[in-house]
Amino acid sequence: MKAVTWHGRRDVRVDTVPDPKIEQPTDVIVEVTSTGICGSDLHLYEILGPFLDEGDILGHEPMGTVADVGADVTEVKTGDRVVVPFNVCCGTCFMCNQGLQSQCETTQVHEMGSGGALFGYTKLYGQIPGGQAEYLRVPFGNTLPIKVPGGPPDDRFVYLSDVLPTAWQAVAYADVPPGGSLAVLGLGPIGDMCTRIAQHRGIETVIGIDLVPERLRRAQAHEVKTVDLCSHGKDLAELVRELTAGRGPDAVIDAVGMEAHGSPIGKIAHRLTSLLPDDLAARLMTTAGIDRLAALHTAIHLVRRGGTISLSGVYGGVASPMPLLTMFDKQIQLQMGQANVHRWVPDILPLLADDDPLGTEDFATHRLPLDAAPEAYATFQHKRDGMVKALLQPRAN
Ligand SMILES: NC(=O)c1ccc[n+]([C@@H]2O[C@H](COP(=O)([O-])OP(=O)(O)OC[C@H]3O[C@@H](n4cnc5c(N)ncnc54)[C@H](O)[C@@H]3O)[C@@H](O)[C@H]2O)c1
Ligand SMILES: [Zn+2]
Ligand SMILES: [Zn+2]
Repeated sequence: MKAVTWHGRRDVRVDTVPDPKIEQPTDVIVEVTSTGICGSDLHLYEILGPFLDEGDILGHEPMGTVADVGADVTEVKTGDRVVVPFNVCCGTCFMCNQGLQSQCETTQVHEMGSGGALFGYTKLYGQIPGGQAEYLRVPFGNTLPIKVPGGPPDDRFVYLSDVLPTAWQAVAYADVPPGGSLAVLGLGPIGDMCTRIAQHRGIETVIGIDLVPERLRRAQAHEVKTVDLCSHGKDLAELVRELTAGRGPDAVIDAVGMEAHGSPIGKIAHRLTSLLPDDLAARLMTTAGIDRLAALHTAIHLVRRGGTISLSGVYGGVASPMPLLTMFDKQIQLQMGQANVHRWVPDILPLLADDDPLGTEDFATHRLPLDAAPEAYATFQHKRDGMVKALLQPRAN
């Protein structure tokens, strides 16, 4: 089969690799019809190379059709339409039973000291072959795949694998009181979906902050108050306070992560501007202060006293300095973690059934054949061509 494989920094390719096979009686093989590229994949593309081997299959946002089932699989059958969560979790252990599927005790990667395994996400998370491929082996076939109905296009359901539950969890963890306010840092797929879910759940004031014009416009189009970091790097906190009764928002979601923060491994910060189109990089460099403000530190600065920071952006630094004095003095609550996909599916799936209040069908900006993955990664990383979310569709090859 064809699969998207990692070969080095900024080097992903589409290789022909052996088809996955049933290895355990509870395995399922899924023929992938749509599979997203995530901001988390960009961390693999740019930074996390030391934790990958050449040839590792990437991807953790797939859906498709069940093509084969192991002897003990009773809950899905060949031909069923399923979405595969990015967490590889058993569904039956102590952690899974509490809705902490990202901490699954059956799949925790003890040798790396990590939580539950993830599809396509490095040795830190089990080095499990990922879903940017024609076929995917899915363990725990009775509990892991999410069955979805036929009818609507893949776009309606595919984000159940990651974007929707991640954003849902981020908004739930933000715990905004009635009549309250939320600022979302980063308007990539995760941040954009956070603003949609926040509005859907009735949060009165939703502010979105980014520096990519198309992403700001996209959020404005569904009535988010946006702030362009390029024009408001220095007076950001002041501006956000003006929008939030002078105090700052009740909660801030960080949907940016380590590539704003700098590298856990090397000195990446000075390379950051090379990730942006030239004109943006230039604007950023001429706006003093922005590149010093890592998103998480911005969140700590912005949130009102006694407020909550909900961190969904992925960070990797083991010794990243944190302003503990400020965090303590402001009495900030901090909630974070990989999304627990299955925990939120019962809340989200009904919203996808009849109509589409979160706008999933228009959410992807690009739908491409699997073969286009190398260009799609580069376009997404450099935020070119208005790309916010790309879906790869293996059957379109
Ligand atoms: N917790 C989870 O389970 C989970 C799941 C999926 C993704 N993530 C993480 O969420 C983050 C966002 O993912 P995405 O797919 O939306 O990625 P993305 O890279 O498309 O989005 C990040 C956005 O942040 C903006 N940005 C950069 N620096 C900023 C700053 N200082 N202030 C405000 N905005 C800034 C960028 O312009 C970009 O639009 C990533 O770190 C990803 O790894 C976490
Ligand atoms: Zn993801
Ligand atoms: Zn488990």
